[in-house]
Amino acid sequence: SGQPASQTGNIFQVTRWFDQDDPSRLGDIEMLPLILIRYPLQICPKPIAIEVATVGGTTVLPTENNFLVYDPTQGFACVNAQQIRRCQDYKVRFTCPMRFCQCTRWFDYDNPDGGGDSELLADLLNIYPGQICPNPIDIDVEPVSGIPSNKTFFYIVYNSTTGFECINSNQRGVCDDYKVRFTCPEEWCSSKCQY
Ligand SMILES: *[C@@H]1O[C@H](CO)[C@@H](O)[C@H](O)[C@H]1NC(C)=O
Ligand SMILES: *[C@@H]1O[C@H](CO)[C@@H](O)[C@H](O)[C@H]1NC(C)=O
Repeated sequence: SGQPASQTGNIFQVTRWFDQDDPSRLGDIEMLPLILIRYPLQICPKPIAIEVATVGGTTVLPTENNFLVYDPTQGFACVNAQQIRRCQDYKVRFTCPMRFCQCTRWFDYDNPDGGGDSELLADLLNIYPGQICPNPIDIDVEPVSGIPSNKTFFYIVYNSTTGFECINSNQRGVCDDYKVRFTCPEEWCSSKCQY
């Protein structure tokens, strides 16, 4: 997902997965209007497709069950009262007739040999001026090695407005060396990126 438009040959873009509700007595509700309110820059108002999966990653087709709502323009709703078994915890993603961008590369300015590994946005903006937008809408964090870590890390900060920070004294062992990547608003990208 998330390939730049020129690489996919079209102008559609798949959003990230959203999981804003947990199964309750009522069910699991992942409706578009609420997702739009919570994540206005990460999704478009008029998606053209929706995909639904369990949070574990199993795709769920509209025909599989008696779902109340399964519609790109409305979202998804599973209501326990209509199910044989209780609703699971679902995530949804949409295809938008527009593109977002993730045109910044991975950044890694700190190493975990001091107190921990800091990859803070304010520092990155100073060190790499013009290469990251000041107002990212999403952040990805991965070990520099590219190998998924087998450690559970306890982070101090992990959000797109502040960045990422892992402190050794909070860990069993030391933090991995992490790299971060930001997703920026389309307006910023189109002025900066070569798609
Ligand atoms: C995690 O990876 C490290 C380094 O590769 C290894 O030494 C350690 O045994 C692994 N721990 C687990 C629980 O797999
Ligand atoms: C990001 O984390 C910082 C530091 O913990 C916090 O002050 C800020 O409110 C957080 N922002 C969001 C959008 O959660």
